[in-house]
Amino acid sequence: MVVSVTPRHPTGGDGIRSVTVLGSTGSVGSNTVELIEAYPDRYRTVALVARRNVAALAAQARRLRPEVAVVADEAHYADLKDALAGTGIAAAAGPAAVVEAAQRPADWVMAAIVGAAGLEPTLAAARRGAIVAFANKECLVCAGELLMAEVRRHGATLLPVDSEHSAIFQVFDPERRPAVSRLILTASGGPFRTWTRERMAAATPKEACAHPNWTMGAKISVDSASMMNKGLEIIEACHLFGMPDGQIDVLVHPQSVVHSMVEYVDGSVLAQLGTPDMRTPIAVALGWPDRIATPGARLDLIRSSRLEFEAPDPLRFPALRLARHALQCGGAAPTLLNAANEVAVQAFLEERIGFLDIERVVEATLASLPHSELNDLDDVRTADADARRFASEMVAAGRVSR
Ligand SMILES: NC(=O)c1ccc[n+]([C@@H]2O[C@H](COP(=O)([O-])OP(=O)(O)OC[C@H]3O[C@@H](n4cnc5c(N)ncnc54)[C@H](OP(=O)(O)O)[C@@H]3O)[C@@H](O)[C@H]2O)c1
Repeated sequence: MVVSVTPRHPTGGDGIRSVTVLGSTGSVGSNTVELIEAYPDRYRTVALVARRNVAALAAQARRLRPEVAVVADEAHYADLKDALAGTGIAAAAGPAAVVEAAQRPADWVMAAIVGAAGLEPTLAAARRGAIVAFANKECLVCAGELLMAEVRRHGATLLPVDSEHSAIFQVFDPERRPAVSRLILTASGGPFRTWTRERMAAATPKEACAHPNWTMGAKISVDSASMMNKGLEIIEACHLFGMPDGQIDVLVHPQSVVHSMVEYVDGSVLAQLGTPDMRTPIAVALGWPDRIATPGARLDLIRSSRLEFEAPDPLRFPALRLARHALQCGGAAPTLLNAANEVAVQAFLEERIGFLDIERVVEATLASLPHSELNDLDDVRTADADARRFASEMVAAGRVSR
């Protein structure tokens, strides 16, 4: 279940919700900052966190006046300190400072760091019972059971931000969970939806990042092109909604208007629709349990006119099969899948491997490393590091065909 059984009071005693944004300079993070800025009487910012984009972080900090701004990469600390000189806003750097920022008592934390790097700060926010707006799907893929157990143990509230999971959240009735027969995750199909495998083999990072409907960070854009993004989302949905893999289907919907659906045992299918604009699912989480206005275009079904649906092609997009396989294997398998994918996507973005090599690296990592049990965070860290080492060696040794 997404919202914990004992949801905390969503705002402070003064009626103002204190907020922290992890990954504030990214695509999700900057949309979140834009919405927070639009409601100065409603939100007060505690911390902003990025990796190294000091210029964007300092500009956001000057506008939102958080207590602290943090860069994960210590090499950028001096620049951040200089950029914030005279503002009274503290500057900090390094992974421990990122976790410390998440531990500060903000009512609401946006988890929008990309990749497994977001796991420890997200866990830190969950462990103090915060409302966590959850964009960083890699966290749930690499440590889903552990993270959900911590959410439950500490009475945290997890609100999905991924548009598909936000859609399901809005039409899923956790009180009637046995009456839900199926979750239907929609997928745009990405920029290579109609491409042949031969054409994909020669795809460039620029082509892979040219998503037809959404403007997003590079990593999720490449994941959308390979459809690994949908694979990660199946795993995310299993954890968020407590549904088995066999009750989660994927439907390609090129217009990205129907953001996902829930089918009930009586045959009713409830869907959430909207324009493809991340400010809507972010606003659902930021305003929760209320609704707040967003500035984006409204859905005009007369202008959209056609809504098309098709089955995903498992032969051209094997990432879906790999993700389901990892989920079924359990243990460390999803952790390995995620880490190998992160390494391979980065190598593709740096033009060290071809697009189809991404799936080869992931498949080989999953097949070669043990799917050990994950009992604690150390086990997750070990599996993640082993997969990164294996995948990096495979890339470096040229053991993928380019
Ligand atoms: N973009 C979307 O529309 C969308 C939709 C649904 C879900 N998501 C998910 O949301 C997450 C963020 O996606 P995005 O597209 O916003 O990514 P993005 O544009 O690449 O932004 C990533 C953010 O994380 C920060 N960051 C990266 N590594 C970090 C580290 N080690 N420590 C602290 N901060 C770090 C980056 O800082 P710098 O700028 O300094 O590098 C940046 O602020 C991903 O998990 C993605 O799957 C995104």
